Amino acid sequence: MTITYRDMDYQSPADCALLADWYNAPSTKHLYSRFTNAEDFARSFTPAYFKRVGEAPKPGGPSRDLMVLSNGTPIGQAKFETDTPKLITKAANTAWIALIVGDHRLRRSGMGTRITKHLEQQAAKSGAQRIEIGVFEYNHRALSFFTGLGYEEFKRLPDRAWWDDRLWHDVRLRKTL
Ligand SMILES: CC(C)(COP(=O)(O)OP(=O)(O)OC[C@H]1O[C@@H](n2cnc3c(N)ncnc32)[C@H](O)[C@@H]1OP(=O)(O)O)[C@@H](O)C(=O)NCCC(=O)NCCS
Repeated sequence: MTITYRDMDYQSPADCALLADWYNAPSTKHLYSRFTNAEDFARSFTPAYFKRVGEAPKPGGPSRDLMVLSNGTPIGQAKFETDTPKLITKAANTAWIALIVGDHRLRRSGMGTRITKHLEQQAAKSGAQRIEIGVFEYNHRALSFFTGLGYEEFKRLPDRAWWDDRLWHDVRLRKTL
């Protein structure tokens, strides 16, 4: 399987439609995006939403937002942002990463690991010295995934993410590059 990367194209209806499919998938919606209440959770992501937020300028330092392709077919999203307000680590040159293997049949076959290593390299090349991530406490597979890659929990932000009739902690993990 050949994995390649290209910039996400928010002008492309096809890219925006794929993102909407991946973010809305019932098996994934609560894992990747943060909702604050039931009403918020009930809303669906639309291609127009991605076009709007994708084209908005990113605060902070270097960032990349990548489409991941397997043998030329888009299968996921990988992104990092540096020194963004969502970080609770305030030391400069800290990157925030997020990734989704959109086609869930491809999960648990090493894809996430390859993508994360790529993100780490890209972030380091742009000057990042550490990475912080946020994972909701019920996302056991992502917690085990990132812990296995050397990320360590350093903080739990209480009552941050709504899912299954209640609010859950947002677990922050960090790794020095
Ligand atoms: C988290 C995610 C990126 C992992 O990708 P993946 O391709 O499945 O991960 P890998 O195959 O590289 O897994 C590497 C290791 O992570 C751990 N892991 C991954 N999925 C797991 C699961 N379902 N249960 C337990 N451990 C898991 C295992 O230790 C695994 O190694 P092993 O398969 O040799 O036991 C993927 O599940 C995903 O896209 N989830 C939805 C979005 C999300 O939660 N993103 C994270 C928040 S930013």
